[in-house]
Amino acid sequence: MKELFLALTGAGISAESGIPTFRGEGGLWKQFRPEELATPKAFAKDPKSVWEWYDWRRRIISKAEPNRAHLLLVELEQRLENFFIITQNVDGLHQKAGSKKVIELHGNIWRVRCLSCRAEYELYETPLKEIPPRCRYCGGLLRPAVVWFGESLPEDALTKSFELSQNCSLFLVIGTSGMVYPAGYLPFIAKQRGAKIVEINPERTAISDIADIVIREKATKGLEQFLAKMLNF
Ligand code: OAD
Repeated sequence: MKELFLALTGAGISAESGIPTFRGEGGLWKQFRPEELATPKAFAKDPKSVWEWYDWRRRIISKAEPNRAHLLLVELEQRLENFFIITQNVDGLHQKAGSKKVIELHGNIWRVRCLSCRAEYELYETPLKEIPPRCRYCGGLLRPAVVWFGESLPEDALTKSFELSQNCSLFLVIGTSGMVYPAGYLPFIAKQRGAKIVEINPERTAISDIADIVIREKATKGLEQFLAKMLNF
């Protein structure tokens, strides 16, 4: 079987593109309360406020470009036969950079789902003309097609991520605090099955203790260093 390589990415990989992370300095969860903005209960109570927050984030993300770290992962996909990205990010920057094999564990901020007819589709309008936005098919209330706290992850994405983690030989963990599960488990599963774990993160995280190689740098510099050393990039 072909050797399998994986990267798990989190908000930190998009930080150098100007998108705020959730935890740590300047993190969104310092300024906002997740239970008021990122739970089904919060949305049921006040869809307008939740959508205003998503509209603000969508505007930031619409102006962001992939950075060198996203682009290096595209190159890695082109050079390695069997390389996948598992991302917790909803910004779509891996795909914008050109990566094809991307598994989105927490959904995508450009997708919406209708609470009435269940239609799911892409909606790129920024800023939104109407908040909360309405379904183009039935006029029902739309929600962002992202995973909120207390919700299950998309089953296909999760199953595939577990399977890949069990079978990979090298697992790059880039820009995630590892605080949110089940994504945070994936490096532990890989480690248990004998994979080498490489962490690229300026800060210590929940994953640092099991990492075989730790690169305490931002994603762009850290990935450049690692790839130059290990793969002669
Ligand atoms: P966090 O905000 O929890 O963690 C971001 C990580 O990126 C931290 O460990 C930082 O040290 C690191 N970091 C910051 N700048 C960096 C840089 N330039 N290069 C590399 N690393 C950098 O973000 P996630 O781990 O992605 O979920 O958070 C996981 C989930 O929690 C998110 O998907 C979101 C959030 O609540 C949902 O909304 C369901």
